[in-house]
Parts: sequence; structure tokens; C-alpha cells
Amino acid sequence: MNKFYIYGPTKLSGKVNISGAKNSALPILFATLLTENIVEIKNIPKLKDIDVAIKLLNKLGAKIKKSKSIYINPKNIDICCPYYLSNNIRASIWILSPLLARFGYGIIPLPGGCAIGTRPIDLHLFGLRKLGANITVKDKYIKASVSGKLKGVYINMSKISVGATLTIMIAATLAIGTTIIDNAAKEPEIIDTANFLITLGAKIYGAGTNKIIINGVNYLNGGVYTILPDRIETGTFLVAAAISRGHITCYSTYPTLLNEVLIKLCEAGADIKTGKNWISLNMHGKRPNGVIIRTSPYPGFPTDMQAQFSLLNLVASGVSKITETIFENRFRHIIELIKMGAKAKIIGNTVLCYGVKKLFGTDVVATDLRSSISLILAGCIAQGVTTVHNIHYVYRGYDSIEKKLKLIGANIKLVNNKLNNSN
Ligand code: UD1
Repeated sequence: MNKFYIYGPTKLSGKVNISGAKNSALPILFATLLTENIVEIKNIPKLKDIDVAIKLLNKLGAKIKKSKSIYINPKNIDICCPYYLSNNIRASIWILSPLLARFGYGIIPLPGGCAIGTRPIDLHLFGLRKLGANITVKDKYIKASVSGKLKGVYINMSKISVGATLTIMIAATLAIGTTIIDNAAKEPEIIDTANFLITLGAKIYGAGTNKIIINGVNYLNGGVYTILPDRIETGTFLVAAAISRGHITCYSTYPTLLNEVLIKLCEAGADIKTGKNWISLNMHGKRPNGVIIRTSPYPGFPTDMQAQFSLLNLVASGVSKITETIFENRFRHIIELIKMGAKAKIIGNTVLCYGVKKLFGTDVVATDLRSSISLILAGCIAQGVTTVHNIHYVYRGYDSIEKKLKLIGANIKLVNNKLNNSN
């Protein structure tokens, strides 16, 4: 297993270019299966989950060409997704709905993903069943079929789910008649996926509100689409500067995607300036103040920024509190940060943070994507050497992370155990 050695403390300051959004790129890549025409996608981030998605599309029969953009020709597609790789990523659930909508049949393995909670798929299956699908789950596979075509229907979601909203919206694109998704998730990545589908000829209205209306069309064309910037990567780099008392400017990103995160950074004492497609944060050398955070669906505070803000609170002045309302097992980074000298108390889905002035380098273990980045950033500001194990998680969601961190001043070294052993 690879690990990072990080030598601290360092101030994280400078300029960083933000990559395309992982959580848009994944559904958009799989939604290309709805068409039989060539699609060009720009601003795809270089990530492990994206590599897996592309391999899966390839295994399903899509022809893929990679240059600066990705070109996908999904003309000849198999309706059965192989077990190979798909159990690695949660996003593989989004293969089912385009197969079902286009061919009336689809088989996929149960999806995998980061262990941050039970992560059920009942809402995805509920939506597809409402559209007319017969679904069975057996021997780690989901089989879905429909006689004729899916049929538009009114669907009231009992719980807000990003993934299930996408599953239903994608399937309804080729259904007969009108589908209404009530209590839909409003994340920018849903708007991005809707805009992609609209570019191919879909009729979708209201994405980004709690009611999405989809008028089914017979087929989709090909087209060219550019993925939205990654708001979580942007927020992560802003936190990097905030915890190290630095000054950073993030380019190729949109401040409008991060309202709640920017409000919390201002509360923490950061001086924030924004332009149309950039954000700068300056701590003017000051230690951040702790902030009260409660995660909730968009436009609330994103659960994907919780681990980074936990770290901020743990080195900030004052006592502060974080409540996680989306996933039930998302505090595992706290246990590791305590090994580095942080003071925290976990009570149910809340963590009380007693800010300390310094963290100290030691061995820590990443347990999921966002925990991995919080530990890496902790290493950058800690005294001495931090070894972060299990760093494969960070490559799932952060494009060129080592290079980008080095550019803003981190002293970070990738150690390949295999190489080490042979030395
Ligand atoms: C997506 C994002 C993830 C982010 C999360 C919440 C991707 C690839 N991942 O995950 O980064 O942290 O949104 O913003 O886009 N739930 C059910 N039944 C279901 C589906 C979900 O009960 O069928 C529950 C989940 O357990 C969770 C809540 O609904 O408690 C929200 O999950 P959801 O919004 O679906 O998250 P994901 O789409 O998995």
C-alpha cells in the first residue's frame, strides 16, 4: 500500500487550478449510455473513480478515445455490466437506469463505494419501479426489466437523495410521457447532469429546485459538454489555507457553488474575495476561529466538506461543534486526528471540538475519501513527520493532489511500499 510522508509545519499559500467535479463527471459518463451517438466530454478530472467508470463503459462495449477531452461512442452496448470493478465505486448504480431506459433491460452488480455509512439503494429502485421497471436483487446482482418502455409518473421522494434523483432523472429522459420528481435533491451536480442531457436533446425543467419535470423523448443525439468545477475540491483548498494561516487563490471555479462553505470560512475569520470564476482566501496570518457546522442537503453545508472543517475546528480557537446529518459513520478521521494531538469528543452524530494550537506528526490511517484529505492537510500543519496510510482513497476524488499541494508549499512525499521493499 502506498503512503504519504508529510513534513510539517508548512504554510499552504499560492494559486491552484480547480478540476472538473467528480460528482458530475461520474453520472454524466454513465448517462452517455442513453444515446447511440458520439459524445465529447471536456474538463473530466483525472481520478481513480473516473478511470474505473471509463473501464466499465469500455467493458460494456463503448468505444472510448482520450485526448484533452473524452470521446465516447456508446453505439453497441451490452446490457449486462460485469462484476469486475463495478463493486469498487458507488456510482456504478447509475449504469442501471440508462440501460433500462434505452434497452428495456439491465443487469448490474450491487455497487460499492466509500464506507461512510450503510448507503442503501432503496430510493433508486423505488424510483425505477415507479417508472414501470420489474426489479430483482439476488446473488449480489440487480436485474431490471420493463415490458415496452418506462412510463412517466409522479414520484414523491421520501428522503432527499442525490444519487436517486439522478437515477430517476436519467431513466425518465427516455420514458413515455412526463415524470415529476418531487422532493428532488438540488445539488449543482444535478443541474450539471440535467444540462448535459438537455445538450443531447432531453426535455428537463426545474433541475436545482425541489421539483424536476422531465418530458420523455424518443432518443438522444450526440454532443459536446464541459463538466462543472469541483466545489468540494475548491472548498478543500480554501480550508488548507485557512488552517495554515495562509493566502490562496482558487481559479477555474465558481463562488456561487460554495455559498454555505464561504459563509463558514468568513465566520472562521477568513478574508474572502471572489470574482466570476475565482475565489481568494487570506487569513492575514491569523489562527481561525471554530465554527458551528450542521451538514444538510444542498444548499446547506455539504457533508463532503465535514472532515475538512472538523480539522479546521480542531486547530481553531475556542470550542466548536459539528453535527453530521447525512451519513452515520463519517467521523472516523476524528479518531486519527486525536492521535495527532487533537482534542474532541464524539457524542452520537455530533463532535465537540476543543481547538488546540498545534498538532504533532504520527502514523494515521485514512478510511475514506474525505477523511484521507483531512489527514493529509493535518500532516501539512503538524509539527514533525506524519505518515498517512491507505492513501489510495484520496486519488478517488482529488486530481493530482500531491502536485497541487506541493505547488502551494506542502512538503509531501509519496512512498511506494513495493519500491521500498525492493530497495
Ligand atoms: C452523493 C455524492 C457524495 C455525497 C452525497 C451527499 C456522488 C458520487 N456522491 O452520494 O459525495 O456525500 O451525495 O451529498 O455523487 N439514501 C437512502 N436510500 C437510497 C439512497 C440514499 O436511504 O437509496 C440515504 C443515504 O444513506 C444518506 C442520504 O440518503 O443518508 C443521502 O444520500 P445520497 O444523497 O443518495 O448520497 P449519494 O448519492 O450516495
